[in-house]
Amino acid sequence: MSQTATWGKSEAPNPSSGFFRDLIAGLQALPKTVSPKYFYDDAGSALFDEICNLPEYYPTRKESDLLARHGASIAAHIGPDVDIIEFGAGSVIKIRHLFETLDRPRRFTPIDISGAHLHASAAILRADYPGIEIRPIIADFTQPLALPIRDDARRVGFFPGSSIGNFTPAEALAFLTRLTGVLRGGGLLIAVDLIKDPAILHAAYNDSAGVTARFNLNLLARANRELGADFNLDGFAHYAFYHPVLNRIEMHLISRYAQKVHLGDVTIAFSEGESVHTECSYKYSVAGFQALAQAAGFTPAQVWHDGWMSVHWLELPG
Ligand code: AVJ
Repeated sequence: MSQTATWGKSEAPNPSSGFFRDLIAGLQALPKTVSPKYFYDDAGSALFDEICNLPEYYPTRKESDLLARHGASIAAHIGPDVDIIEFGAGSVIKIRHLFETLDRPRRFTPIDISGAHLHASAAILRADYPGIEIRPIIADFTQPLALPIRDDARRVGFFPGSSIGNFTPAEALAFLTRLTGVLRGGGLLIAVDLIKDPAILHAAYNDSAGVTARFNLNLLARANRELGADFNLDGFAHYAFYHPVLNRIEMHLISRYAQKVHLGDVTIAFSEGESVHTECSYKYSVAGFQALAQAAGFTPAQVWHDGWMSVHWLELPG
């Protein structure tokens, strides 16, 4: 389904309206699968913020270090007076790095699927940066968007968190290709998690406090809350591993025993050990991601990395 983002909070589409349809279709498919975009209701967004503070989950900290350490260089590449569009903005913490270092940023358009989270964050940002016009959009950025951007401004996309990793490489190529049209004359600042020791990757998605497990299981809790489903959360186990040939983390929910779950009038049967595949998180080499960006039409102009995470500045001529 295609959605068009609009300005006002009240006119915004409800991005979760597809949850019921998508969940049933995904659970009737073989293998069973659910899109990771459905993790992020308000409870899931709060759990994700908790993940970002876990000792094992390095991406957020490493990315913040890179943005802080190379702020001046990043600002020099991006230039003055830009419109910033952030995809999957969530708690909107990372943009502060750019606000602090960029030369007179004009407008900030954060796009996120989780509305309450986004509006609360935007209100705090507005108070701290009164000189920047802040216009949040509640929308699913994986769907085509009509963005309210000014024609005269230099547009800069900001895609932090390595969320590009949720797309398959083919989907990432299609998404980046779509962005080249929106960002023409500007560029994209994007964080990408790097291929590394599988033990480090494994630990990042199997934290000892069990927060990632709760995040994964929240998908079922959300279906119970929003759709009246009857998932027994104790009947499913979090299972995450790194695949070193496909270069991706896979997250699954594994049915602990044979069981039936009801969603409206639909009954879904699970066999013992059966998986619901809930997320892929692809990892890239620096050169591998640059090749993908180039194939989409971007010019890889600069990259900052530390062996853990990478931040790429990708340019687009006018
Ligand atoms: C928000 C997609 C970047 O893939 O690392 C964290 C989501 N899943 N722990 C990631 C996530 C499990 C995260 N992204």
